Amino acid sequence: MSVAGSKIDVTETGVSTSAIGKSRDIPGPRGYPLVGILPHLRKNPLQYFVKVAREYGDVVRLDFGPKKFYLLNHPAYIKYVLHDNHANFRKGYDLVKPVLGDGLITSEGALWRRQRRLLQPAFHRRQLEGLVSLMVKNIARTLQGWDTFAARSAAFDMEEEMFRLTRYNLVKTMFNLDLETKMAEVGKDFEACLAYLQQLMKAPFKPMAYLPTPTNVRFWRARKRLDRLVYDILAKRRSNGGGASDDLLALLLKARDDETHDNMSDRQLRDEVMTLLIAGHETTATALTWTWYLLAKHPEVAGKVTDEIRTVLSGRTPTFEDVPKLVFTGMVIDEVLRLYPSTWLFARQAIAGFEIGSYAIPKSAMIFMSPFIMHRHPTYWSGPEAFQPERFLPDKKAQQTPYTYFPFGGGPRSCIGDQFALTVMKLVVAMVLQRYRLTVAEDRIIEPLPKATLRPGSRLQMMVNFL
Ligand code: HEM
Repeated sequence: MSVAGSKIDVTETGVSTSAIGKSRDIPGPRGYPLVGILPHLRKNPLQYFVKVAREYGDVVRLDFGPKKFYLLNHPAYIKYVLHDNHANFRKGYDLVKPVLGDGLITSEGALWRRQRRLLQPAFHRRQLEGLVSLMVKNIARTLQGWDTFAARSAAFDMEEEMFRLTRYNLVKTMFNLDLETKMAEVGKDFEACLAYLQQLMKAPFKPMAYLPTPTNVRFWRARKRLDRLVYDILAKRRSNGGGASDDLLALLLKARDDETHDNMSDRQLRDEVMTLLIAGHETTATALTWTWYLLAKHPEVAGKVTDEIRTVLSGRTPTFEDVPKLVFTGMVIDEVLRLYPSTWLFARQAIAGFEIGSYAIPKSAMIFMSPFIMHRHPTYWSGPEAFQPERFLPDKKAQQTPYTYFPFGGGPRSCIGDQFALTVMKLVVAMVLQRYRLTVAEDRIIEPLPKATLRPGSRLQMMVNFL
């Protein structure tokens, strides 16, 4: 198989068909002395990554000063790293441990395997069944606030609302506690954690994390408050033998290692709770914001979604059984995540050197893979910039080349919350469109802004009217 626009021959497995070249032979942009390509990344990393991927092909060498990174733009190579040869790669996300501890996102090796085994059952389909009724209650509760917007014909910031809704839903699904009075504070503390992570991504050098900058100080205080909140809840739950059994925390408290028969310690539970809250929050909120943006830009698609919701639900509150019946709504969400994958870039570090295509990549090299680049790759998608949910009709979906679409990653470390997120998103879309007609307050093009997730680059102001 020869790939258009590439200088590299690949077989079906991504194994080289020609002599192995040195990593320095890998094509890539020339950077500035000492700082390499960093100045380009500061301006607009998203545009820059897309540009170099299109220009240099399937493997691109990027010089970040003295460090070399490799961007993979071929589905077989991405599959090789995430799936076929995953054991040769670590995540190397140590920098975010001050926020997430040793939770599922940051842990490696035996600890990660144990934790994934322990957490997986909590995300099983049959557990989602129990969580859907909680989610529906939470969404309805948040949407009550929208009645005021509708009554006053007031424009509101959709991204802010989606963050509020997702946060409220996640916290309530996790703890099933009446934290209403604390939600504003929890929200601010979450934002402080996200701002800290954002800062680390901009300046990924260790000393930055220890300086008493305003962002760091806010984060240290926020972490202390959030830790106290989680540990207090854990203590209360443990003192009443686990408590309510219909939330995520109850499932985590029950989780027991098959081999050692141990439960998780409070410290491990804290790390996993923080990990799930952070991992599920911004990702889902931004994906929902883009959903409203695209539906506003494509009223014919919004009309089809509304028709489906009307037919499936006939005005009822959605249930777990309704979720798979919202087929077109699901296709719309798939297409939103194609155009605007919340996790637009992720990384791995090679434990040992390896060969990919016709190149040797050295030990410890950092590898980048970007759903944003692959989801808009003209070799694999026709009219890649167009919003066409029909691409995800079941028969078309089955024909997609693996790893040309991977909004939730792939291989053993793929997103544990994918079904949770897709379910929440369907429920939110259904419950909003059941009650309101949405319009944009100002019709403009919103460019994606690559932060920790792919955020809208300008405000999405919307208005709602009762149907
Ligand atoms: C639209 C929403 C979401 C998107 C696009 C998304 C995307 C991703 C991606 C791409 C990864 C893999 C990253 C990598 O391989 O480096 C990942 C991992 C993960 N996600 Fe999500 N995610 C979403 C929602 C959620 C939710 C709702 C939760 C939990 C409630 C969650 C929990 C996690 C965890 C714990 C991991 C690490 C899994 C592991 O390493 O074993 N995510 N997510």
